Amino acid sequence: MRLNETPLFSAEQIRNRVIALGREITQHYQGQEIILVVVLKGAIVFAADLMRALDMDVTLNFIRAKSYVGTESRGTVSFSLLPETLLEDRHILLLDDILDTGRTCSEILAWLNKHRPASVRLCTLLNKPGRRVIPVEADFTGFTVEDHYVVGYGLDFDERYRHLPGIHVLEA
Ligand code: IMP
Ligand code: MG
Repeated sequence: MRLNETPLFSAEQIRNRVIALGREITQHYQGQEIILVVVLKGAIVFAADLMRALDMDVTLNFIRAKSYVGTESRGTVSFSLLPETLLEDRHILLLDDILDTGRTCSEILAWLNKHRPASVRLCTLLNKPGRRVIPVEADFTGFTVEDHYVVGYGLDFDERYRHLPGIHVLEA
């Protein structure tokens, strides 16, 4: 696998898009308080930037869900860390890095919904609609991407490249 040095989305493009998303989300919730549930580890960079673009009351929680080894989806999702906060009657915004087959997010959304929250919305930085296996769509999306494996801005390939400020395609 070789990293394409030219970013698909530069740090500046991401910054601008995240600020616009922050406005959109702030407007959507109309002053209601929300719990951000961040999917570890890939969504941490996105979450750190997005939460600072929100003009509203938020609290922060993390969930660990893994469905990938290398570039291959294993088809099963396992949770290894769950939010400690009471979710009942709260507004929850789930933040993930990328919506790919949809397995991870649909399982997390189902788990969150069991806790009888007031609402659950999904926000993903990236969306790969061409790869969907489970019909799940994000309420808020940063960018739509073709069927490329991408890294950087939190996204990894076997734990590498998360630190890159832009998003790059990993070529075969
Ligand atoms: P899904 O369950 O197939 O939708 O996969 C979602 C998870 O797989 C994401 O949260 C990512 O961690 C990982 N993933 C999917 N596509 C990519 C990619 O292109 N680059 C890095 N990680 C990816
Ligand atoms: Mg992930």
